[in-house]
Amino acid sequence: MREIINGERFVMGTCYYPEHWDSSLWEDDLERMLQAGIEVIRIAEFAWNKIEPEEGVYTYEFFDSFLELAQKKGMKVIFCTPTATPPVWLTEKYPEVLNADQDGLLYRHGARRHYNYNSPVYQKLCRNIVEKSASHYGGHPAIIGWQIDNEVNCELDEFYSESDTLAFRHFLQEKYKTIDGLNQAWGTIFWNQTYNCWEQVYVPRKTVHNTNNPHHLLDYYRFVSDSARRFVRMQSEIIRKYCKKEDFITTNGIFGNLDNQAMQKESLDFMTYDSYPNFAYCLDDYQAEDPIKDRKWSRNLAETRAISPIFGIMEQQSGANGWTTRMEAPTPRPGQITLWTMQSIAHGADFVSYFRWRTCTVGTEMYWHGILDYSGRDNRRLREIREIARKMEGMKEIAGAHYAAKVGILKDYDNIWDARQDKWHERVDKCSQKSLFAALQMTHTPFDYVYLDDETDWEELRKYEVLFYPHASILTDARMKALETYVSEGGKLVMGCRTGYKDLCGRCVMDKLPGRTAELTGTDIPEYSFVAPDDGRVLADWGGTKVEAAVFNDLLEPAGEHAEVLARYASSYYAGTPALIRNRYGKGEAYYFGGAFALDTAKVFLEKLGAGTPWRETLELPECCELAVREKDGRRYFFVLNYAPESVKVEVKKELRELFAGELIKGEAELGAYEVKIFAE
Ligand code: GAL
Repeated sequence: MREIINGERFVMGTCYYPEHWDSSLWEDDLERMLQAGIEVIRIAEFAWNKIEPEEGVYTYEFFDSFLELAQKKGMKVIFCTPTATPPVWLTEKYPEVLNADQDGLLYRHGARRHYNYNSPVYQKLCRNIVEKSASHYGGHPAIIGWQIDNEVNCELDEFYSESDTLAFRHFLQEKYKTIDGLNQAWGTIFWNQTYNCWEQVYVPRKTVHNTNNPHHLLDYYRFVSDSARRFVRMQSEIIRKYCKKEDFITTNGIFGNLDNQAMQKESLDFMTYDSYPNFAYCLDDYQAEDPIKDRKWSRNLAETRAISPIFGIMEQQSGANGWTTRMEAPTPRPGQITLWTMQSIAHGADFVSYFRWRTCTVGTEMYWHGILDYSGRDNRRLREIREIARKMEGMKEIAGAHYAAKVGILKDYDNIWDARQDKWHERVDKCSQKSLFAALQMTHTPFDYVYLDDETDWEELRKYEVLFYPHASILTDARMKALETYVSEGGKLVMGCRTGYKDLCGRCVMDKLPGRTAELTGTDIPEYSFVAPDDGRVLADWGGTKVEAAVFNDLLEPAGEHAEVLARYASSYYAGTPALIRNRYGKGEAYYFGGAFALDTAKVFLEKLGAGTPWRETLELPECCELAVREKDGRRYFFVLNYAPESVKVEVKKELRELFAGELIKGEAELGAYEVKIFAE
């Protein structure tokens, strides 16, 4: 059986860097971790030189002796491949392994993640070191799993080296076969961009106004994702040949320009996430008015859950952030480490590993604090972590429980990457994604992100009563089929402005809008416009309730006998025209809203569609609390997380068992500053 994420209990870990410390500290460190409840360490992700100090010379004495000690002490180890930091000897000898900026200037040694995925030399050297390490340690009894690289696509998720251009051409040849095919797909007739041969095609280069061909960019992001996936898969296939059957392979994320779902499917047993909610309190971009601050990390945790329903946290914040050059933030306050740990668990993490045991005394990250400060003496944060270990023991019945949600937000990578390079798409999407998340949080409505692709079966959607798919500019027949079946079988689907106007290449279609969804939504769009800046907030009247139709407005007309107008614009020159259409379709309903969703609008949708605050009969919570629900064997666990620095009162309306106290409770309960309580049915 797998040592972690096995549905049995929660496991705690930490990141350890034996190469940063005198070996005389190791034994005591390991003993103190174990005493604190830390059973797993992750090691070696930046230690290429310790294994291969010069090309072709592999030395495992250092990690052999460390692992021997770990084994003796009973500490379990996640061993990493060190490919995120190629050593100096390598980059000096083979500068082509380096990543470059858009001007072709190489990123030199001194930071990390300075390599590219497509250099054949780098691929070969990585294959070699992974093969050597996996064959050397594959059967090691202390090792329980493997981490590939470190944070794939972190720091930079764009690559402009010569190897990338060569590989990009290959990717495009496979996709389009002929240069003419590419010209068609990218609409190169516009502005005379027609290519005569493949050698003229590059990764996006510097252009006037930094404005590249949009279809070129969309394919480029797909290519970056492909490159990263291939790189991870290459490592995973090697490790699998050697590792023990029960050992797992993972990587830590999650970052841009990467189809994480596909990566996990082809290469990983589960995903791990690195959670640093303290970013919300960074000195230089603190947003006092933001109502959800560190709660925003629940969004990333929901994204991780959309990759692996039960996942791990490879790096959980345990101290102040800060490189010497950026990201300065305060030390977590008493209770916040617990809050953020429980935030991870509430969303589906069954393994939580803290970054890092000791704070490094040298280098760029000497202010990125771990559990212990420089002296290594016991401190408040270690005491808090010991207490968390005690709590994890008391809640182990929840391990393996699935997050329970009746609302979903649909996403897909074509639209995510299209919005990355198309401002028109980006503006509406940013607004709606932010508002929907905040509205769901503030109304205590658990939700999932659900990723659509052409293989998605509608059965995967049917457990959601309501699905939002805010601005799917790009749609395919296969995805439409799944959506149509979902609605006709009784689901409620909500779409926002700018739906269905592009094809897979990101070209505008000549259909009447909203394109492929016209029939499902019973909607016709004769006209549209950005909200004019001098119009201020454009409102729509929905049965007497005013909702904002933010950013962009599609002007709508109902089409077909089942379509009905629910709301009309209340301002601008289109006041009085339809802003929201509901179309009854089979047993369900499709809604087309003419704008992007503002916070209050999203709340009204949740209320009117009967999807908001689903646990109102069970718990009444103040806005500053998050509610997350995990469910196992028909029993629900309600996590209530107080993000406020003061205590709050909650109302428990049905008798529930408060897990940490072990008491039955009904009526008022108090949560202290940053406190988390779990109520079990
Ligand atoms: C992560 C990374 C760690 C460490 C940490 C704090 O992104 O994986 O190695 O750098 O952030 O900056």
